[in-house]
Amino acid sequence: MMDLKSQINIEKLPRHIAIIMDGNGRWAKQHGKPRVFGHRNGVIAVREATEAAAELGVEFLTLYAFSTENWNRPKLEVNALMRLLVETLHKEVETLNKNDIRLQAIGDIRNLPERTYQALLQGIERTKNNSRMTLVLALNYSSRWEVVEASRSLARQVLAGEIRPEEISEQMFSDALTTGGIPDPELLIRTSGENRISNFLLWQIAYSELYFTPVFWPDFRKEHLYQAIIDFQQRERRFGKISEQLVQ
Ligand code: FPP
Repeated sequence: MMDLKSQINIEKLPRHIAIIMDGNGRWAKQHGKPRVFGHRNGVIAVREATEAAAELGVEFLTLYAFSTENWNRPKLEVNALMRLLVETLHKEVETLNKNDIRLQAIGDIRNLPERTYQALLQGIERTKNNSRMTLVLALNYSSRWEVVEASRSLARQVLAGEIRPEEISEQMFSDALTTGGIPDPELLIRTSGENRISNFLLWQIAYSELYFTPVFWPDFRKEHLYQAIIDFQQRERRFGKISEQLVQ
């Protein structure tokens, strides 16, 4: 891969890139190792993607680290993943601060194991004044859960007489999601050759470009992110309009 970075148009960077990190288990299997080995190497890819995005000037990077459905995995794997998260958060907060990166989380984080929850809160607190990029971890996240939660919160406001049902707008609904305040991702990447969305940011990706790569997540490097951005920049985003209506 020859100098992909220089092919990126910095003027037309996506503000927000979201990634479904997939293929850790299959990568481990290929190497004849337990699944947890894949997750551990997945952390290297997390570092690479974060660094590459921050260096380019991407404002938000969202990583799908643990879905609500992932609780159905063997207990051993779930525990190992939670431990890995705590360990990584403790280890990497310093790096985030050095690189002026703010940490945020989306999902039902209150129902994570207490230690994971605390490590996450600490990471968020200790990086809250950073402003170069926001790294959003989706943890215990599911899009349908989030949509139901947002509906409940708006319903409560209606019941309390604070708003009328007719007043509920797309903007209000967006703001009620756990991603409230974060712009919608322009680019969604999924690794490992699976062409699915799997309950991730369903509302937010209404107009996103989707990019699927066969690369297993632990093998994902800066060049793979560059390639995805170059691909994104070669597409034309029309938002329902025709080509001639778009101002360049
Ligand atoms: C998907 O691969 C990956 C996960 C469910 C976990 C991702 C978590 C990490 C890479 C560690 C996160 C750490 C931080 C700090 C964000 P899979 O297990 O579904 O792979 P498979 O589809 O091949 O089985």
